[in-house]
Amino acid sequence: MKFAHISDLHFFAFPESVRELFSKRTLGVCNYLFHRKFRFEHKHLGALKQFFSERGISRLVISGDFTTTAAPREFEKARLFVRDLVDSGMEIYAVSGNHDQYTCGAYTSKRFFQVFGDLIRLEGLYHVNLAQDGAAAIPLSDGWFLIPFETSNHQPLFSSRGYFSDEVEKKLRFILSQIPEDASIVMATHFPFLPFKFPKAHLENAPALQRLIEEDPRIKLYLHGHRHRQGVYECGCQVADAGSITLKNNATLNVIELGKDATIHPMKWEPDHVV
Ligand SMILES: [Fe+2]
Repeated sequence: MKFAHISDLHFFAFPESVRELFSKRTLGVCNYLFHRKFRFEHKHLGALKQFFSERGISRLVISGDFTTTAAPREFEKARLFVRDLVDSGMEIYAVSGNHDQYTCGAYTSKRFFQVFGDLIRLEGLYHVNLAQDGAAAIPLSDGWFLIPFETSNHQPLFSSRGYFSDEVEKKLRFILSQIPEDASIVMATHFPFLPFKFPKAHLENAPALQRLIEEDPRIKLYLHGHRHRQGVYECGCQVADAGSITLKNNATLNVIELGKDATIHPMKWEPDHVV
């Protein structure tokens, strides 16, 4: 089977009222005006539907950061994009990113799951639900399973960190205890488990996640986003970062084929000329 992996769409909308600015969102809006506005472009996203259809891709993993400041209007834009794909017959698996949990209100109200709950696959086997438990077990085909799990929560003003919680670790260990011995597993979340150049954007408690991955040889592939930098590397298993699908100068996605092993095809997203 074949599926696509995209990440870090970062839809943006100006706040509807001054009240919406009484939060970390003020920082996010300034960041947009002086920085992100010049780096992201959304107008080519509509062409993705045709790209998937031409290549016979009907499954898509989106590894978070649909929005910039988790504002309701940003989620509305993201929902329209996802809805359009679902209407075209795509099955969508998705997790939230730190920008989707940007404000305390968005995090405590579970806005991400309220918005996408009817469009993305939240539950598969073993009565484990991504919205309630922070993880899910979804059978794909030919002995492959997908485990989407949450690593994003609300963070203080200048932090873009994630957190691998004990609760999510318990759910993952439960799921892994249920999945057959001869299965192959794809994990998907927003954060990489290896540190990169910005300490304020790391995943906290990442060593526990890395241990869990290294201990289980059935885990063949780990998908993430967050860094806005496409990459494929080995670390206990194959690891693939889709980069960002909306970067003006370097929009990227990965197409992944699952057979005996996972084969990753990194691509640049230039709608008239996909390389
Ligand atoms: Fe992120």
